[in-house]
Amino acid sequence: MDLQNKKIASLDDKAEPKTKAREILKVAIVGHVDHGKSTFVGRLFHDTDSLPEGKYESIVAMCEKRGVEFEYAFLMDSFQAERDQGITIDTSQIWFNTDKRDYTIIDAPGHKEFLKNMVTGAAQSDAALLMIDALEGVQEQSRRHGYLLNLLGVNQIAVVVNKMDLVDYSEERFNEIETEYRAYLESIGVNLTRFIPISAREGDNIVKPSDKLAWYKGLTVTEALDDFKILAADDNLPLRLPVQDVYKFDDRRIIAGTIVSGQLRIGDKLTFSPSGKEAIVKNIEAWPNAYTEEEKKNLVVGAGQSVGITLTEQIFVERGDVISHIIPAEETDILVAPHLGEEFTAKLFWLGQTPFEVGKNYKMKLGTAEVNVRVKQINHVLDAENLSQSSGDQLLRNQLGEVVLTTRSPIALDDYRSFAKSGRFVLLEKYDIAGGGVINLDGYKNRRADIFAHQANITRVDHAVSLAERENYNGHKGGVLWLTGLSGSGKSTLAVSLERKLFRKGMQVYVLDGDNLRYGLNNNLGFSEVDRRENIRRASEIAALMARAGFIVIVSLISPFKEEREKAALIQGAGFFEVYVNADLATCEKRDPKGLYKKARSGEITDFTGISSPYEAPTNPAFVVDTAALSIEEGASALLEFATNKFHKEYNQDYSI
Ligand code: ADX
Repeated sequence: MDLQNKKIASLDDKAEPKTKAREILKVAIVGHVDHGKSTFVGRLFHDTDSLPEGKYESIVAMCEKRGVEFEYAFLMDSFQAERDQGITIDTSQIWFNTDKRDYTIIDAPGHKEFLKNMVTGAAQSDAALLMIDALEGVQEQSRRHGYLLNLLGVNQIAVVVNKMDLVDYSEERFNEIETEYRAYLESIGVNLTRFIPISAREGDNIVKPSDKLAWYKGLTVTEALDDFKILAADDNLPLRLPVQDVYKFDDRRIIAGTIVSGQLRIGDKLTFSPSGKEAIVKNIEAWPNAYTEEEKKNLVVGAGQSVGITLTEQIFVERGDVISHIIPAEETDILVAPHLGEEFTAKLFWLGQTPFEVGKNYKMKLGTAEVNVRVKQINHVLDAENLSQSSGDQLLRNQLGEVVLTTRSPIALDDYRSFAKSGRFVLLEKYDIAGGGVINLDGYKNRRADIFAHQANITRVDHAVSLAERENYNGHKGGVLWLTGLSGSGKSTLAVSLERKLFRKGMQVYVLDGDNLRYGLNNNLGFSEVDRRENIRRASEIAALMARAGFIVIVSLISPFKEEREKAALIQGAGFFEVYVNADLATCEKRDPKGLYKKARSGEITDFTGISSPYEAPTNPAFVVDTAALSIEEGASALLEFATNKFHKEYNQDYSI
């Protein structure tokens, strides 16, 4: 992403004088598809004078021309058409206003993404208007929507009973619906709800009270809207900052993300979950102008703000990590750092095309993390209509249930009852959102203490011989030349040839070869993605250890994942050079020195790099050897020159051993 176009920390947003900006309340408008949402929103825009200049007139004129009767829903249809053509930029939010404040509707009628937006947290509404058709009455969908709003933490709800004109503005009918639906809402714990009889088509009770509904003494829709409260930002909760990206920018590594809850200051001590790494905030970056020293002193960024931070130490941080503060000695009820575990209960709403089933695997998006989850159990399937629970081993589209999900390794989890936003997730089925849910951690032990206990009780021992002394003794620096490339690209041949050449020059050098490591240290690892990552991690650690012992370490490993190679670079620090041993797949396959491509093509070997497992080529390697064009001798000589330059060190007379 282009950092220059991204304003990282938004001090400006906070500095904006509150009096100038109008308040914005985010409202969801939900209800059965046929209960008149489009007409209602069209009318709401019209009656609050929120339509763009001339919009109403142009649609009325168009209806006349075509000989059709004007309908308020057409206004919304025209917005939708504009959205489809990309004329209106924001596809999920539309705006109207009253004298008191501005409103944004996070589910524009016709916008089928409502539930998806709600569960992803893409849209968190302050309040909701739930629409029920006076003629049709309470439907299953009305109940389901009420249930979901509650689950997603939307507690301010006004129920709008629409199409009162079709029931002769009957007070009795209205009361009937109110009694039935209020009882339902109360049974799920929603108490403070207003019921408003309206006719969207006729404009009754939208802005002004209606004579036809004289028996009704309550608020109109806009009055009820103005009566809702804007939710306080989650500044008071513990810090949760899911890492969105890490940008390398001049010599800084900027960790960027949006604060979901809590606050952050320069100097704060942070922990990253699930890795458990710790670091201190060195700076909060701003673009285009950095904060002044004076501004930095009092700088606090909070929930909802996008920030970019740098750390005092270089640690490996990746997208999906959750940043929180370090747990104080005495943990409070609401966890300062997320719970860590590999199993949790979830209340799940299923939207998938195929049933959600025990034993299936899904990709879960939780904050910015994407993790694979497995369905361990379905505790019950919930009937939103009467809240009865039944057992079952699958959830069908639009069904709700309580389920147990597991992950392969511990992940950062928040219970939705304390963390409405970080406690919710979505499940994907082939890149498409197939379900949404909230995390319930009742009965699960937080594994954080266990997981990090071993780390808490270890202390680094300082060596008695320093690296500088070793380097002086050797006459060159230690470091890592990391050769990556496809199988058959020539990595090992190059590596051993270079090893010989460097050795001949009197240098301390050693080749760490993937195949060799797999005979011993890594003999418990195969070629699945997880195993390869572990294989590379171990090789990275050993390479870094040997480099610290003063060696030039030539690593020869397919290392197909960019991310793992970046980690290797971080583990080593300075003195790491990525070398891309480049030969295209066809060339490697033609060479096929070990006959493995043949086996991979016939299916005898699975997960074979380049055939049935991916290879991510380096984008910015320190050196490239093109083995399709160069001989091994030429390649090794070129590498020799590169390595000699990089690891060269002036002989220092002062050293003593
Ligand atoms: S890595 O992907 O984990 O970095 P590594 O370099 O250790 O791989 O091992 C690759 C070597 O293992 C190849 O040179 C080849 O000899 C052998 N091998 C066996 N099966 C596979 C496979 N499925 N994919 C790639 N290499 C394989």
